[in-house]
Amino acid sequence: MTTQSFKKSNYKVRFPPVEGIEELGISGKGIIVNDDIKSWKFNRSIFLQTLTIPKFLRQVVELTKLHFQEMEKYWEFFDRGQDGGEEIQLVEWIHRLNTDFIFHITTGKRYYALASYHSSLLSSAKIVSEKSPEDQPHLSDITPEIIKESEILLSCINSYLISLNFFGLYPRFLRATLQRKRRDELLKKKEWLFGKLTEIVRERRKEIDEIPADEELNYDMLTTMITANTERDVYVIKKNMEKKLEGDERPLSDEEIVVNMTEAFVVRKRLLEELDTVFNAKTSDSSLTNEDISKLVYCEAIIKETARFDPVVPFFDRQSTDTDVVADYSWGPKTQFSVSIGRIHKKPKYWENPDQFNPDRFLQQNMKVEDKNTFLQFGTGLRYCPGHKVAMTEIKCLIALLYRKYDIELVDMNAPLDTSYNTIQRCSSLKIRVRRRNV
Ligand code: HEM
Repeated sequence: MTTQSFKKSNYKVRFPPVEGIEELGISGKGIIVNDDIKSWKFNRSIFLQTLTIPKFLRQVVELTKLHFQEMEKYWEFFDRGQDGGEEIQLVEWIHRLNTDFIFHITTGKRYYALASYHSSLLSSAKIVSEKSPEDQPHLSDITPEIIKESEILLSCINSYLISLNFFGLYPRFLRATLQRKRRDELLKKKEWLFGKLTEIVRERRKEIDEIPADEELNYDMLTTMITANTERDVYVIKKNMEKKLEGDERPLSDEEIVVNMTEAFVVRKRLLEELDTVFNAKTSDSSLTNEDISKLVYCEAIIKETARFDPVVPFFDRQSTDTDVVADYSWGPKTQFSVSIGRIHKKPKYWENPDQFNPDRFLQQNMKVEDKNTFLQFGTGLRYCPGHKVAMTEIKCLIALLYRKYDIELVDMNAPLDTSYNTIQRCSSLKIRVRRRNV
C-alpha cells in the first residue's frame, strides 16, 4: 500500500459504514470510527493541532507529575516499612492514574479514580493501615459523593469502550433479541457519559465567555476545541491549516466536541498496555521538564522495542476506494485490508534477529527511509495516530518518575504475563513490590 497525497489516497477509510455505530449515535462523528471523510478531516485537523503544540505537551508533563505525586501519597500511606517492600497491583494503579490524567488533560477538570481505588483498598480487608485518615490532608476535599461519581464515570467510560466493539460487531438482529438487555445497558451508560461531558462543555463555554478577551486561556483540549476557529482561538488553527476545507472554517459543535473527548478515553486503553509492558526501563536522573523528557533517548528506544515486540494495537484496517495492486494481486475497490502490525514487526526481512529484545536497534541512525512502514506502533498514512506525541511524552515521564525513586521487582518472576485481547492487547494483572531507592 503506498502513501499518497490526501486527494489521491486510496486509503482514507478505516471501515465501511456500520449500522450499529449509527445506533450508538456516533456515526459520522469524531475520528476513530468516522467514515465521513469531510467530517473526519475537519475533526482530525483540530485534534492534531491541539495535541502537538509545545505548550500543550508541557502540560502533559506537568499533569503526569501531578497525578504521579498523588499516587505516591497513597503509596506512602500504605508503606509499613516492611523489609520486602510493599506489594501492590501496579496495573490497577496505573490504569487509574491514566484515567485521571486523560480526564484532566481533555477537560481541564480533576477526577478521582486514584482516590477512589485508595479508598476501596482502605475499606477492604486487604489493607490494614496503621495511619489514620487524618494523616491524609490531601484527601480532605474528596467527599464520598465525589468518590461515588468517579466510580460511575469510570464504569461508563469502560462501558463505552465495550460499546464500540459491541455495536461495531454484533448484527442488529442479535442486538435486538438475545443481546437486548446488554444493548440497553450499554446505551444507558453511553447516554450518562455523553450527558456528563455535554454538561462540562456547556459550563466551559460559559466560563470562557466570562474571561476577558485579553486574558490567556488554559491549554487543556476542551478549551482549545471550543475556541478553535473563533476569535479566542488559542493556537490560531486557521493559519496553520495546510489546506482549508471549504465551509469548514467553523467552530466545533457541542456534539462534535463530546465525541472528540471520548477518543482520548478510547485510546487510553492503548496507552495503558504500553505503560504496563515497559517497566524494565532505566531512566536518566535529570529533573523532569519537557526538554529533559525529550532527551531520554534510551527510554524511548525501550518503549519502541517493547511496542515492536508486543504491539498494543496488533492490527489496523483500511478500505480501498479504487483498484490497487497489493502483493502482486489486483484488488477491486472497497476491499477491506487488515494490516498485521505484529507480523510485520517480527519479519526477518525487515528486522535482524526479530525475536531478540534489543532496544539498541532504535538507537542506530541507520533506520532506513524504506523501513518507514515496517515499524507501525502508531499506524501509518493519513490515519496515523494523532496522539503519538502525548502517548510517548506521558510514558517517558512516568517511567522516569517511577524509576528515579523506586526499586521495582515482580512478585512472581516466573508467572506468565497476564494479558487479554479486545481490539487492543492489555495487561490484566501485574503484581510488583516497590521500595524507595536509597539515592
Ligand atoms: C501507546 C499509546 C497509543 C498507541 C500504541 C496508539 C496507536 C494507534 C494506532 C495503531 C492507530 C491506528 C493508526 C492507523 O490506522 O494507521 C491509532 C489511531 C488513533 N489514535 Fe492512537 N495510540 C496511542 C495513544 C493515543 C492517544 C494518547 C490519543 C489521543 C490523545 C490517540 C488518538 C488516536 C486517534 C484519534 C486515532 C484515530 C486516527 C484517525 O482515524 O484518523 N492515540 N492509534
